[in-house]
Amino acid sequence: MTDSTQLSRRTLVTIGSAAALGAGALVLTACTGPADAGNGAAASPITMPLATIPVGGAVSARLGTAPIVVSQPTEGAVVAFSAVCTHLGCTVAPQGKEFDCPCHGSRFDGTTGDVLDGPASTPLKKLKATVSGDTVTVSN
Ligand code: FES
Repeated sequence: MTDSTQLSRRTLVTIGSAAALGAGALVLTACTGPADAGNGAAASPITMPLATIPVGGAVSARLGTAPIVVSQPTEGAVVAFSAVCTHLGCTVAPQGKEFDCPCHGSRFDGTTGDVLDGPASTPLKKLKATVSGDTVTVSN
C-alpha cells in the first residue's frame, strides 16, 4: 500500500503502546495511595464522637488526606491505624473485627493491626487515639 497507510499503522502501534503503558501506570497509581498516607507529614488531629464507632467494630475516616480506620474493641477503648495496606498501598476497610484489603485479600486484626492473612507481611501503622468523655481524638 502507500506510505501514508504504513505511517497510520505505525502511529496506531505507537498509540496502542502508549495506551498500554498508561493503563499500567493507572493500575500502579491505584495501588500506591496518597503520598502522605500512613507515614508522611503530620496531619492535624481529628475528633469524632465515641458513639459513631461500634463496640467490637470499626469505622473508616480521614486524617488529613490519609485514610484511617478507628476501632472500639471494647466499650470505651479505641485504637486507630493507617488504612493504607502494607502490601501495595490499597485502602483497607473495616469488616467485623478486622480490616480487609480489597486488592489482594490481606486481612488485619482490628484491635492490633497485625496481619491475619497475606500477602501483606507488615502490620498496619498504629496511630494515637485517645478518648475524653464522649470524644475520640486521633493523630499521627
Ligand atoms: Fe492490600 Fe495487596 S494492596 S493486599
